[in-house]
Amino acid sequence: MPLLEVRDLTVHYRLGPARVHAADRVSFTLDRGQTLGLVGESGCGKTTVGYALLRVLPENGVIAGGQVHLDGSDLLALDAEAMRRVRWRRLSMIFQGAMNALNPVLRVGDLLEEILQTHEPVSREEARARVAEQFEQVGLPRARTHSYPHEMSGGQRQRAVKAKSHLGRPDLIIADEPTTAFDVILQDQILVQLQEIQKRLGLALILISHDMSVIAETCDHVAVMYGGRIVEYGTVDEIFARPRHPYTIAMLSSFPSLYGPARELLALPGVPPDLTAPPVGCAFAPRCPLAEERCHAEAPAPLTLDGDETHWSRCHFAREVKVSALAREAAGAES
Ligand SMILES: Nc1ncnc2c1ncn2[C@@H]1O[C@H](COP(=O)(O)OP(=O)(O)OP(=O)(O)O)[C@@H](O)[C@H]1O
Ligand code: SF4
Ligand SMILES: [Mg+2]
Repeated sequence: MPLLEVRDLTVHYRLGPARVHAADRVSFTLDRGQTLGLVGESGCGKTTVGYALLRVLPENGVIAGGQVHLDGSDLLALDAEAMRRVRWRRLSMIFQGAMNALNPVLRVGDLLEEILQTHEPVSREEARARVAEQFEQVGLPRARTHSYPHEMSGGQRQRAVKAKSHLGRPDLIIADEPTTAFDVILQDQILVQLQEIQKRLGLALILISHDMSVIAETCDHVAVMYGGRIVEYGTVDEIFARPRHPYTIAMLSSFPSLYGPARELLALPGVPPDLTAPPVGCAFAPRCPLAEERCHAEAPAPLTLDGDETHWSRCHFAREVKVSALAREAAGAES
């Protein structure tokens, strides 16, 4: 049984008389110790999926359908108190822009000790020791527990937030754009450290990012989101070596390769769909170089790809030569 099983998760936000269809029948599984990358352009629904798994959607957000099972237990059926325990013990999230989430008038160590003591019946000394241990695990000196947030650099604050997310020793952490605010060197350190902690503790990780190179470096599986839906799913190798959705191909060709030769980057023209009025057909059709009449009329179902273990794509032509040719052409923009 996978650690996490998400089936047809559907979320919308009420916006006056309109509804924003932010996540539409999102399905995936995640095994213990594995990393899933959730990738896609701004506004495609990545954070919404994280919030829905944790059940921390803003007031106008509604889980309109689907199931979320964590280690066999149905998270959407739990009462608020049971869900609070899950958020501490089982499933934790490093929120997007979380660096600023530390309380500016509390020393970071005191804040974390207080949080730990509200969840677990531990003594002050025990809480202090656990917090200091977590600081060391994320590469912060123990002495830093006495610092106020403004006395720390952005990178150190990010580590303190990470220590906070590990305090309850959860099985699964959702990290929402953990590296976006930092320079490339610090990004690399953060990613390496996330992987080390993950390995040491056997954690599963959902890494949310709009950056394909971050995903390539850290993940086992990748779910590519577009317009509230997962449009392609597979192992890192399947997605990066054989992308079979024109949107994934465009994403891959608009990011610099980390290790490959330098190549010309392709721009992705057009804008993402309006999620208050999602199109009937394929949401990518207005921007897709391969779109045909059928694409505008009929939403594509997921097609599995022969020879690949887990790979599927929500494109009518995923198994046809024209998609593999587009992938080759995009990769061929290498100079
Ligand atoms: N509270 C809200 N009320 C109404 N619409 C919202 C709300 N929060 C998000 N949305 C909309 O839902 C869609 C998905 O947003 P979400 O924050 O999940 O995207 P994202 O993929 O995380 O984007 P980014 O990469 O910019 O963080 C967007 O169209 C966004 O405008
Ligand atoms: S279904 Fe059509 S529009 Fe959508 S990605 Fe495939 S070719 Fe493009
Ligand atoms: Mg987001």
